[in-house]
Amino acid sequence: DSQILDRLKKLPLNGLSPSNKDDLLLATGLDYHIIIRWGDEISKNDRFGFNNDFTCFIPFDDDDPTDGLLWVNHEYVNPLFVSGFDFEKYENPTAHRTKEQVDKEMYNVGGSIVRIKEKDGKWKVIKNDPHNRRITAKTPMELNWDHPIKGASTVIGTHSNCSGGITPWKTFLTCEENYDSFFGETVYDQDGRPAHRDSSKGWEKFYPYPPEHYGWVVEVDPKDGSAQKHVAIGRYAHECCTLYELSDKRIVAYSGDDKNNEHLYKFISSEPGSLKEGTLYVADTVNGKWLPLDWQTQPALKDRFKDQTEVLVRTREAAKILGATPLNRPEDIEIDPITGSVFVSLTNNYDKNDFHGSILKIEETDGKYDALTFNASTFMAGGEENGFSCPDNLAFDMAGNLWFTSDMSGSKMNKEDGLYMAFKNNSLFVVPRHGKDQGKIIRLASAPNDAELTGPWFSPDGKTLFLSVQHPGEQTTDLNDPTSKWPFDKDGIPKSSVVAITGNLIEKMNKLHILER
Ligand code: FEO
Ligand code: CA
Ligand code: CA
Ligand code: CA
Repeated sequence: DSQILDRLKKLPLNGLSPSNKDDLLLATGLDYHIIIRWGDEISKNDRFGFNNDFTCFIPFDDDDPTDGLLWVNHEYVNPLFVSGFDFEKYENPTAHRTKEQVDKEMYNVGGSIVRIKEKDGKWKVIKNDPHNRRITAKTPMELNWDHPIKGASTVIGTHSNCSGGITPWKTFLTCEENYDSFFGETVYDQDGRPAHRDSSKGWEKFYPYPPEHYGWVVEVDPKDGSAQKHVAIGRYAHECCTLYELSDKRIVAYSGDDKNNEHLYKFISSEPGSLKEGTLYVADTVNGKWLPLDWQTQPALKDRFKDQTEVLVRTREAAKILGATPLNRPEDIEIDPITGSVFVSLTNNYDKNDFHGSILKIEETDGKYDALTFNASTFMAGGEENGFSCPDNLAFDMAGNLWFTSDMSGSKMNKEDGLYMAFKNNSLFVVPRHGKDQGKIIRLASAPNDAELTGPWFSPDGKTLFLSVQHPGEQTTDLNDPTSKWPFDKDGIPKSSVVAITGNLIEKMNKLHILER
């Protein structure tokens, strides 16, 4: 053991320079292999979906970190790749959609459960394992709520699954983010009259499902794939859902709404081990207050909405009535295992000329997660000075180092406008907690062209970092000439994939607290 520690001590922690190379580049001391990619067969009837975002791993047995179930979110589809439909070709694209195209797209979103096993340092999918299954935009699931929503208690499917979380009872949480791009949204005028706003992808043309059935936190049971949507946590573009279990086993759930000027929320359950009932709060970060979105006790909510169900369905409107603070697109949230602070990525906000984003630190009063007051401060800001822009996913390792990814993707965010030129491709960074590099921001991986690195998740022994490479070649307009070819398959088509990052540097980082003592 001391020999291993000596070897790790000598390994340098050298970051990468920004790069435009169409490849997954890793710092010295790191290796990767692909576990699974878009289109791979996971069982006789099912294939791995498109665009991998949140990734998490639950071992079957706490004593064996090498065998368990991997959950992966399939956030959205690029129709050009999945159904062959070219949105660029038409002035009014949704008029030209076929049902077959939409069906293919609906199959490719949602999530996958796959059994994976590690042997000799390599993770492999156990094909046809009975646990392997797809959850898609057509999988029926329950609403975990006593009142129907738009006349139903069972809804069809999940999609737009961005980041997520894990429960203390070992189920997956997958969060419905930009749901309005598939089934549209119900919008209200000044007099409260509803109207349908069309989606950009036009699925409602064939499947007119109520938008109100999407935009929730979804819990998936890895054992049988059964799923339920947690209405009590509210409806908005949920980026993630990060839980803390109180000593009496009640649950605190943090989640952000990733849209310009939307909000940060926390839910406190009233029952132990349940996400069904409790109080949803929204953050006033100026005054450090959690404001209860509670119809019973808030006259302003009673004036606008007919009951608590309506408050939860129209969470954004309710939050604004109470004076919630508009934030710069809250993305992933993690709780620092050492200080207990809650970190929130604020990725950017064009409306407010915040182009590079920041990471917000929330310190709950007296370190109590059910406190109703807190202190908010900026932990670090993006920009050329700090070498990163647009923070998104966060993860802490066993030594308390903060890992985060950048995401400069998106329509307005193209590199031609010059703002992001210096940062080059999206990357994975670490902020060491201990030792001589403490507090530095070090780039450890650089993504292929157009890709975003997502869902960083450590194996329970800290020896593997599971990471998704999402949407390589996203800007492609001609499949014969894609903007990325990663992972360099024979067909030349770029494919979102989940990789296992291993090597001495992962081990070093996870043991840094021992090495630097
Ligand atoms: Fe799907 Fe906010 O990232
Ligand atoms: Ca994200
Ligand atoms: Ca995370
Ligand atoms: Ca993002």
